[in-house]
Amino acid sequence: MLSRLVVALRAKVFEKVNGDNAITFPNDQVGPDRFEELYGHPAANGRSRGAGLSDLFWYWLSPGPEVHQEHLEAGPRYDDVARATRTFLAGPGDALAAAATRCTAKVLDEMITEPVTHVRLRDLMMPVWAEYFYELVFGEPCPREARDLIVGHADDVVTSLKCTGLRHPARRARLTRYLATRLADVRHPLPETLSPTEQVHYLQGTYFNTAVVQMSEGMAHLLLALAQHPEAAQRVDDDRYFAHVLDETFRLYPLFGIAHRITTADISLDEHTTFPAGSVLCFNYPAYHATGYPNPHEFDPGRWEHTSARTAHHIPFGIAANRPCPAWRLSPIAMRAATREVLRRFTLHSSVTHTRSLPSRGPCLLVRDGSVPRRRLVLMRVRDRWEDVWRSVVQLVLGTVMVLHAHRLRLASRYFETHQHQEIP
Ligand code: HEM
Repeated sequence: MLSRLVVALRAKVFEKVNGDNAITFPNDQVGPDRFEELYGHPAANGRSRGAGLSDLFWYWLSPGPEVHQEHLEAGPRYDDVARATRTFLAGPGDALAAAATRCTAKVLDEMITEPVTHVRLRDLMMPVWAEYFYELVFGEPCPREARDLIVGHADDVVTSLKCTGLRHPARRARLTRYLATRLADVRHPLPETLSPTEQVHYLQGTYFNTAVVQMSEGMAHLLLALAQHPEAAQRVDDDRYFAHVLDETFRLYPLFGIAHRITTADISLDEHTTFPAGSVLCFNYPAYHATGYPNPHEFDPGRWEHTSARTAHHIPFGIAANRPCPAWRLSPIAMRAATREVLRRFTLHSSVTHTRSLPSRGPCLLVRDGSVPRRRLVLMRVRDRWEDVWRSVVQLVLGTVMVLHAHRLRLASRYFETHQHQEIP
């Protein structure tokens, strides 16, 4: 109850930050049937300049938000960065899967030593993906020192994004300093239009923040859903069924709550529906994913037997026509391999509430011998409810502090005041 109130309040705060020109879809004017048409419109292509929300995102993603692919305006620098990312994320599927299996096995061997171990799934997965993306970038096994720096950084970003803790710029700067010493060692050419410092920020933001955070969050949702639906967990070796479980997990718990675009020209969908240049369009993923399905709030992988992910209201990796996720191909391959490695060793059990933002980080019991730890599940449930109450208050307070701080720093606004040339096509 309290947590729902806090989520509603946070949405209000974000709306206020954005000012009067922000509109959230789907709504009465542009419903689910035209949602993708608007999202994919060529003029819905501004990313940072001109939205109050950008100051907040840049604050959370520092250092180097101005060269983060997600936040770069269209133009030659964006093209250069996107090309580099595509090169890093390419590679044969077998090799991408084998690396995920290997990194998962290494971390599980190291961290799970009891017959029954209590973990937070997001925390368990962070070192796995730190190792994975280090290998992807440098082409060698990840030293422990680097892994700790990467996890420290990625955890700091996602903790502050979820408002369960404040930012720690010094912790992030330690990874920046380390990466600056390693620029010559990366496997593929870095974007040439970036300075060396910007190249360091590109590596840090793309592979050691976004990639690690998104994969850890995605895996926490997937493993938690499997812990709470054991009948689905038993079938993950079937590729087709696994794809349905993943689609259903992403449908119900999309990693993006809202993605936004700033219109760079007037958009006219029909004579009644126009948006002037400079509008901030907010695309609400969970709301869109809940339309067009029977019982949309139920977790039902079986629905995908007779639903095509192509035609359904389903955009877990964004919209092909408007800057979709470059890890669209890699992520499911790596997640499937990691999931199988976890389930090969343990059965999973969890009695916590599964929400999209998952500020609890996914409490879960990993059990070796197939028994069901009933008493610990009851305790877990009580503790989860109690934590939820105080965490909601913490989120509200810290969220407000950070919104105000970001508003004072004005990172994006100041950047665009001094970089007028940047980068409207
Ligand atoms: C389960 C995993 C992931 C999911 C569900 C996911 C989801 C998304 C979505 C929905 C978008 C589009 C947002 C928008 O329209 O503004 C996006 C963009 C992006 N994602 Fe992912 N992502 C995942 C993993 C990754 C990984 C592993 C990387 C690693 C590099 C990555 C890097 C990016 C980048 C750079 C963008 C911005 C693309 C652009 O603007 O050109 N993501 N992601």
